[in-house]
Amino acid sequence: MFTLWCLCLSCVSIHPSAVPQPPTITLQSPKDYIFDPRENIVIHCEAKGKPNPSFSWTRNGTHFDVEKDSKVLMRPGSGTLVIDISGERADAYEGTYQCTAHNDHGTAVSNNIIIRQSRSPLWSKERNEAITVQMGVSLVLQCRPPAGLPPPVIFWMDNSKMLPLDQRVSQALNGDLYFSNVLPEDTRSDYICYARFPHTQTIQQKQPISVTLNASQRNHKPEGERRPGFMMPLGATSSKMVLRGETLELECIAEGLPTPAISWKKDGGELPNSRMSLRDFKKMLKISDVNEADAGDYRCTATNNLGTAHHIIKVVVKAAPFWVSAPRNLILAPNETGILTCRVNGEPKPKISWFVNGIPIENAPEDHSRKVEGDTVILSNVQTGSSAVYQCNASNEFGYLMANAFVNVLAEEPRVLTPSNQVYQVITNNPALLHCASFGSPIPTITW
Ligand SMILES: *[C@@H]1O[C@H](CO)[C@@H](O)[C@H](O)[C@H]1NC(C)=O
Ligand SMILES: *[C@@H]1O[C@H](CO)[C@@H](O)[C@H](O)[C@H]1NC(C)=O
Ligand SMILES: *[C@@H]1O[C@H](CO)[C@@H](O)[C@H](O)[C@H]1NC(C)=O
Ligand SMILES: *[C@@H]1O[C@H](CO)[C@@H](O)[C@H](O)[C@H]1NC(C)=O
Repeated sequence: MFTLWCLCLSCVSIHPSAVPQPPTITLQSPKDYIFDPRENIVIHCEAKGKPNPSFSWTRNGTHFDVEKDSKVLMRPGSGTLVIDISGERADAYEGTYQCTAHNDHGTAVSNNIIIRQSRSPLWSKERNEAITVQMGVSLVLQCRPPAGLPPPVIFWMDNSKMLPLDQRVSQALNGDLYFSNVLPEDTRSDYICYARFPHTQTIQQKQPISVTLNASQRNHKPEGERRPGFMMPLGATSSKMVLRGETLELECIAEGLPTPAISWKKDGGELPNSRMSLRDFKKMLKISDVNEADAGDYRCTATNNLGTAHHIIKVVVKAAPFWVSAPRNLILAPNETGILTCRVNGEPKPKISWFVNGIPIENAPEDHSRKVEGDTVILSNVQTGSSAVYQCNASNEFGYLMANAFVNVLAEEPRVLTPSNQVYQVITNNPALLHCASFGSPIPTITW
């Protein structure tokens, strides 16, 4: 029965006769959209339906009158907005946008699309004191780049050469440069931290930092051999939260002389070898596509010939809502019953709210055929007036998922779609297949 429906639906799309259909959004911009102020802002929204849907927008929750703004163009036949921000204060267009696609049979709504301008603020002017250190001690050079949108990529150079990183010298995730112990070769007048802002393709640099070894010690053997201790993270334990599906990055940087080696273990469990990699001379443990089982205590051990040190990172896995099954479009004949389900999971458990044609279900025009039970909407004995687009929004503190699904109640007379007087060439003693594609609601029975 189900396959027959699919067959009929595909017939409709090739058959021009105007079978009514509520709108379906076919394309929309991502939920988070960072624009480059040198280019137009293009916010996508496209939908199909019968009749063709018309489009409108809200910005920050109120109607956005596109016609009144000469900088904004809505592409014909779609809801896509093109905003020409040349010579404008582009930040005036920042905000939360939502598109609605409407026809006589219902209203579909897009995600909330948050539009922000990329930023690459200047590094605040500062003078860095020259640093003088004893040979063999540990050292941290701070980068502290300005907060950009999106965040910049950090790298350190000296005199236009990439700074070599190794077991002893590390660049941490926060961009700071760590020395497990300082050697004479670390004497340089121009340690420069650079920040590359990906959207604007601009690079900014911090004032150079000069590092000198205490002169009275320069030609002596390093002193103060010592056991390992952690520079990053500090203390005996720390914690880290990661979202399901994302990549977990754990870092452990230790000081000591000789330079400690780092190793990793998971207390009471195995490291997931197939999704795991070690980077930065084993100082970083990366686990991709995190799942609930990756939660737990990760132990990094720093070892040199004088001893060992341990640090435990407590990893907690949370989850933005994810689909178990999204609601699907329903095509019903009068007096039939249909069910829409919005099954999601997440940590914490997502809350589900339903909308009808973009209006919260509790405020929507009453429909006696409808009953809401949490993640399920039951429509019984539907009539043609029950056609509508339903939205479910499942959200927790880490995000939301929204789906549109239409209920299309059709009373359509049976029609045979296959043209008459077809001539088939058949081979004797072989099966012959005669087609009869049909359309109708309820599903027609076919007789020959
Ligand atoms: C929309 O709200 C954001 C955040 O409150 C604000 O920065 C922005 O200026 C608002 N946009 C418009 C067009 O009012
Ligand atoms: C869904 O609900 C969440 C939580 O209330 C909200 O932040 C989000 O904007 C909603 N999404 C849409 C598309 O309305
Ligand atoms: C250099 O080392 C000597 C001996 O350890 C110490 O007395 C002196 O203060 C140090 N100088 C600097 C500039 O740190
Ligand atoms: C729907 O049900 C009602 C009452 O049971 C009946 O009168 C009506 O003919 C039915 N309509 C269709 C299209 O089957």
